[in-house]
Amino acid sequence: MKALVLAGGTGSRLRPFTHTGAKQLLPLANRPVVHYALQAIADAGIEEVGMVVGAHGDAIRHAVGDGSAFGLRIAYLRQPEPRGLAHAVLIARDFLKDDDFLLYLGDNYLEDGVRAFVRRAAADGDAARLLVTPVPDPTAFGVAEVGGDGLVRRLEEKPERPRSDLALVGVYAFTPAVHEAVRAIGPSGRGELEITHAVQWMIDRGLAVRAETTTRPWRDTGSVDDLLEANRHVLDRTQGQVDGKVDPHSVLVGRVRIAEGAVVTGSRIVGPVVVGAGAVISNSSVGPYTAIAEDCRIEDSAIEFSVLLRGASVEGAPRIERSLIGREAVVAAAPRPPQAHRLVIGDHSKVQLTS
Ligand code: G1P
Repeated sequence: MKALVLAGGTGSRLRPFTHTGAKQLLPLANRPVVHYALQAIADAGIEEVGMVVGAHGDAIRHAVGDGSAFGLRIAYLRQPEPRGLAHAVLIARDFLKDDDFLLYLGDNYLEDGVRAFVRRAAADGDAARLLVTPVPDPTAFGVAEVGGDGLVRRLEEKPERPRSDLALVGVYAFTPAVHEAVRAIGPSGRGELEITHAVQWMIDRGLAVRAETTTRPWRDTGSVDDLLEANRHVLDRTQGQVDGKVDPHSVLVGRVRIAEGAVVTGSRIVGPVVVGAGAVISNSSVGPYTAIAEDCRIEDSAIEFSVLLRGASVEGAPRIERSLIGREAVVAAAPRPPQAHRLVIGDHSKVQLTS
């Protein structure tokens, strides 16, 4: 079995980050989301991966390489426009040949990986196997209606009135029967070739599409809130380890991982927290559920339940929470008691003011 990992798309719900980078490279506990997908694929025994990339393809290549770090062989496939998940399958036809494959959306995080799913998909004789999970609001997802025999009767993409609470998780196992389906369908209302429509096409032609239900933790990291939640999940499974320097005036509580080359002075860090190499934290309170990437600087501030990307700095901020702060971004207190907030922020940024 091969894997096709989708790492294109516009990522509109993660603007402004997706103006300058791929959403699949945003970090969970300081590692790009897509690394978890690749690790899960390798753990499932798959060796050959096609990575579909779009506008930020070079950054993905840089962060992932040829796959050897994961024990994988990765071929990059360029999707010139983000025209949908089924379109990505369409352009991967030559790479996939007539092999069965696992379609894996590169912004999805599954705590348990896909080993059992892949094993069952390989063992049964169905045309496709979908992973589904009950969610409180299915309108944000593809939704499956499943019969008592476990076969999918009907699929709808982001329906206004869902017929079940079973959302499609972003992993699918396909036999080559899907290729005829992705060629046959037309664009949806949002102008994309939807994989849900391709699978419905297969069902309508009498092919067996089986649903496997999971209740294990899963996140589509496509929005800031979901990314922060996924980060929380990953941090919950992270072990503490201090390789950096922590001065005697600092206190570490719970599981705190501090990379070599990071420096903590006069601060209190409440885990789970990860701090990347080269980061400097002084006179601050950090955590819980916070990931500080490499080369960040936090001074005279308090920050919790947040993710800072590489080189971000926060200075003199009395309380920051539920925030995602971009690469080299600067958050600083005004030099004197402020009469007004001064903002220099990029397109599609969001700032929440308390006064
Ligand atoms: C895509 C699929 C949807 C699925 C979801 C899972 O949606 O179209 O069926 O439920 O991924 O993450 P998107 O996140 O691209 O809007």
